[in-house]
Amino acid sequence: MKILIVNGPNLNMLGRRQPEIYGSDTMESCLDDLRGRYEEIELEYYQSNCEGSLIDKIQTAGCSGEFAGIVLNAGAYTHTSLAIADAIASVSIPVVEVHISNVAAREAIRRQSLIAPVCKGVISGFGLDSYRLAIEALICGRQR
Ligand code: DQA
Repeated sequence: MKILIVNGPNLNMLGRRQPEIYGSDTMESCLDDLRGRYEEIELEYYQSNCEGSLIDKIQTAGCSGEFAGIVLNAGAYTHTSLAIADAIASVSIPVVEVHISNVAAREAIRRQSLIAPVCKGVISGFGLDSYRLAIEALICGRQR
């Protein structure tokens, strides 16, 4: 089973970026932990700060037949990008929306997600553990 984890803008700065909100762990350590925990799953990781590149990746992965699902933290594009929402809607594999912080408890603009309606579900507020919970959701979804 193969799962794609996609991170959007500024998530390459994890560990250094606003640690009071996003913690001080890096995405690399999170991926090491996930790969150790889920040895039977192939976890591919992709990060981009560019909206079009994120769309290209969602389309390519979604149409490849390779992936059981996508774990997507679209960062600030979550709140603004109809184009990413359209890309998610155009693929048939499940996409789980993920946030490190609890976006529902933050500024009004972050309480709105343009991608949530086309995602399988949303996991928000569990720090980097949100990624693990999203993988669990995809595994459970496959077993149902
Ligand atoms: C975020 C929340 C977004 O509002 C923000 O723009 C991010 C990170 C999160 O993981 O908590 O870049 O998606």
